[in-house]
Amino acid sequence: MTGDRAPARDWWKAAVVYQVYPRSFADSDGDGVGDLGGVLAHLDHLERLGVDVLWLSPVYRSPMADNGYDISDYQDIDPLFGTLEQLDELIAALHERGMRLVMDLVVNHTSDAHAWFAESRSSRDSPKRDWYWWRAPRAGHAAGEPGAEPTNWRSQFSGPAWTLDEATGDYYLHLFAAAQPDLNWENPEVREAVYSMMRWWLDRGVDGFRMDVINLISKVVSLPDDPDGDASPYVLNGPRIHEFLQEMHREVFAGRPPGLLNVGETPGCPVEQARLYTDPARGELDMVFQFEHVDLDSGPAGKWDLQPMTMLDLKRSLGRWQSGLAAVGWNSLYLGNHDQPRCVSRFGNDAPEHRDQSAKALATVLHLHRGTPYVYQGDELGMTNVGFTRLDQLRDVESLNHYADAVEQGDEPAAVLAALRYKSRDNARTPLPWDSSAQAGFTTGTPWIDLHPDATTVNAAAQVDDPDSVFSHYRRLIALRHDEPTVAHGTFEMLLADDEQVYAFVRELDGTLLLVVANLSDSAGVVVDLAVTGTDWAGAELLVSSVPRTTPAAADPLAPWESRVFRATGQ
Ligand code: GLC
Repeated sequence: MTGDRAPARDWWKAAVVYQVYPRSFADSDGDGVGDLGGVLAHLDHLERLGVDVLWLSPVYRSPMADNGYDISDYQDIDPLFGTLEQLDELIAALHERGMRLVMDLVVNHTSDAHAWFAESRSSRDSPKRDWYWWRAPRAGHAAGEPGAEPTNWRSQFSGPAWTLDEATGDYYLHLFAAAQPDLNWENPEVREAVYSMMRWWLDRGVDGFRMDVINLISKVVSLPDDPDGDASPYVLNGPRIHEFLQEMHREVFAGRPPGLLNVGETPGCPVEQARLYTDPARGELDMVFQFEHVDLDSGPAGKWDLQPMTMLDLKRSLGRWQSGLAAVGWNSLYLGNHDQPRCVSRFGNDAPEHRDQSAKALATVLHLHRGTPYVYQGDELGMTNVGFTRLDQLRDVESLNHYADAVEQGDEPAAVLAALRYKSRDNARTPLPWDSSAQAGFTTGTPWIDLHPDATTVNAAAQVDDPDSVFSHYRRLIALRHDEPTVAHGTFEMLLADDEQVYAFVRELDGTLLLVVANLSDSAGVVVDLAVTGTDWAGAELLVSSVPRTTPAAADPLAPWESRVFRATGQ
C-alpha cells in the first residue's frame, strides 16, 4: 500500500509475506507463550525486513490440541494470546506501517469444543447433526471394537480417522487429531456459517486469509474404504472443491475493493489442479501452497519414511511448478513454515561453516522465482533444526502421536526419534531468539518449548545491524522485489537443468534480464557455463552478492553455497 493509491488486484505479486507463529514469536506477559502483545511489540522487525504482509497463525479461542488449528470460537481471541481489542490494534498498527494482515483460518474442521460440535454430538436428531460426518459402526461390528470404524482411513496424526462418541453410538470423522472433527461442507448451512464468519473478519479490517487444508473440504460422500487405509483419494481435491471455492469467492470476496488475499494450503495438489485453483478467471484462490517439494524426502509410507533427496530433485520440482503456472495461475514460494523442518537443515547445510551462506543461497533462489515468497519466522536469521535427542523435548501432537503409534507397532524407538529429529514440526516452533539474554528476549518466564541451543549466537540482535548477516541478505532480496518489476512480473527460464550443484535461471521483462546463479553445494570453485543464456553478462550489474564485500563477475567461480543476482538491460 504505497501512499493512497488503490492497490492493483494482484498487488500480492510484488509482495513478500512473513509468517508469525504467535506461540513462538514473542511473549509479552511472562507466561512462556508468545502472544499478540509480543507481535505488537516487534512490528519494527517486520518493517525493517521490508515485508508487506503478516500471516498470523491461529489466535482464535482453542483448547490448543493442535496449537490453535483446533478452533472452538472463530470470532474471539484465545486469552492465551490476548484480546480482540489487541487484534484490532494489530490491524491498525500494520495498516499504519503500510502492511497487511492475513489471518490463518481453519474451516475443514473445528475443535471438538466448538459449540457447533457440542450441539451436533448431543443427539442423532440434533439440527446440527449433519454439520459433521457422523456414521454408524461398520455393519456386523459392535461400536468400539477394533475394525468397527465406518472406513479404514488413517488420520494424518496417526490412528483411525474416526472416533466413537459413546453417547450416541456413532463415529465422527477427523482427518487430523480426534479433537479436530471435520465439518460437512455438503451442508449449505455449514458453508453459509463459514462465509458469514469470514465476512465478519473482513469487515473488521483483516486483509485476507490463509485457508488451512482447504482442498480437503469436499469429500467423496460415499466414504469408501481404501486398499491402503489412505483417505487422500477421497478427500483431496474432491468432487465439489471448485464449486465450493467459487461459492466462497462469490459470497466473501466478490464486490469488495481490491487489496484482499486468499491463499489456500493444498496438500496433494498436482500442478494441473493448482492452475485451476489460481486461474483468476475462475474466481477461486489467489495462490496455493503446494507440497511437491516438501514431500520429496518422504517415502511411500509417508512423511516419517525418510527418503534421500538431492538438489536436483528440488530444482526439477520447483522448475515444473514454474512452467506449470507460467501462463495461468500463480505460485506461493516457500521452503519452510510451522509444519516443516528448518529449510537450512533440509535443503542447505546447517554445519557452522555453511549455515549462513546456505541460508542466503536458498533465499536468493526462492525470492527470485516467479511467485510470492513467504518467509517463516526465524528463517530470516538462518535458524536450523534443533537436534532433538529426547522425546520430552517435543510438544507437537503429530510428533507425539507418531512416536506412540510407531513404537507400539514395534518400530525401534531410536529410529523413530531419528525421523522426528529431522522432520518434527517442533524444529520450526522453538522461540524466536531476539537477543542473547537468558530466555533470548522471548519471555521473562519459562518458554513452553526449549529455546534453540544456538539462540545465544543466532538471534535478531546479532543480525539486524550487520550488513553481512542472513537478515540483511533477506532484506536486500525483499527490497529488490519491490524495486525491480522483473522479479515479480518477469518470465522464468531455468538454466543447466541437469547440473547437480548449480541452481541458475534467467528472468525477463521488457528487455530487462536478471541472472540468478547459486552454488547449492559444499564444493568450491563451481563454474557456471553462461554461454547457454545467449547473453553477454560481462558488463552486467551485480544486484545481490551473498559473500560479504565482494563484487564478483557473472562468470567467476562460485564458493560453497555462494549466490548472486545480476541485471542486464537493453538486450
Ligand atoms: C495444516 C496446518 C497444520 C495443522 C493441520 C490441521 O496443515 O498448517 O499446522 O496441524 O492443518 O489443521
